[in-house]
Amino acid sequence: MSELLLPASYLLITGASSGIGRKLAVRLSQQHRLILNGRDQDRLAETLKLCYQPERHLSFAYDLADVDTLADSLATFLVKNGVVVGGLVHCAALLNVLPLRSITLSHAQSVMNVNMFAAMELTRVLLRKPVNHRALRAIVFISSIASQFGAKGFSAYCASKAALDGLMRALAIELAPHVRVNSVLPGGVRTPMTDAMYADPAVSDRLTRDYPLGVGLPSDIADAVQFLLSDQARWITGHQLVVDGGRSANISA
Ligand SMILES: NC(=O)c1ccc[n+]([C@@H]2O[C@H](COP(=O)([O-])OP(=O)(O)OC[C@H]3O[C@@H](n4cnc5c(N)ncnc54)[C@H](OP(=O)(O)O)[C@@H]3O)[C@@H](O)[C@H]2O)c1
Repeated sequence: MSELLLPASYLLITGASSGIGRKLAVRLSQQHRLILNGRDQDRLAETLKLCYQPERHLSFAYDLADVDTLADSLATFLVKNGVVVGGLVHCAALLNVLPLRSITLSHAQSVMNVNMFAAMELTRVLLRKPVNHRALRAIVFISSIASQFGAKGFSAYCASKAALDGLMRALAIELAPHVRVNSVLPGGVRTPMTDAMYADPAVSDRLTRDYPLGVGLPSDIADAVQFLLSDQARWITGHQLVVDGGRSANISA
């Protein structure tokens, strides 16, 4: 797969220390050399241990909420390690389910920073010729069906994912034909992000009932990302790929 990525280039995966990002890293470690991002060095080390040939991969521990220094920090990391990045998967995200009256502006800004501005800054660095030598070929943003639908307590998260998809479409046009840019929009998948929701039997029953194909797994999302990064998707850009077991098509839910 991913013949479109240059053989010597790395794939940068944010959110690689948990859930969908970890599953993706383990899966793609067979075909790619990876740079794994998360905040927690120990959790990143756990992901690395699960990867194929751990010594081939690198970890870049960084808090993506610090968007002001992100571009320079990543540039320094790439130059220091003498590596270039051919693919970016932005999977990290912050979700706190809170009614609007309880959200502070600074919390909303952190959500926007991690979920959207970090994607913009990472892309910006990977386009710098002296740093990444035109190696970038494909970008996948992990969005959510929450970019298209609402839910109580999801205002900051929905806004951030809608912004991420807007960024995706604009970049798909701006960066063509050299770089393809797409989003994957998962429905409910059981991960540490959603464990608390699924722990409530009433919520878990409802979620299971509303999904025609049942509840999704991190591997279902990894399948979609793997496809979008691959040569089989060479003519696909600017696309929102919904992977939700039919949830968003289900008007009886
Ligand atoms: N699970 C679902 O049902 C679902 C549905 C729709 C969309 N999604 C999307 O799928 C993606 C993965 O979600 P998940 O369910 O796998 O969540 P998860 O298990 O909670 O993982 C979230 C990841 O984001 C990283 N992260 C959070 N804040 C960060 C920060 N400030 N700086 C750097 N990394 C940060 C975490 O790293 P550390 O905490 O280790 O730093 C962790 O690796 C997200 O974009 C989410 O919005 C998930």
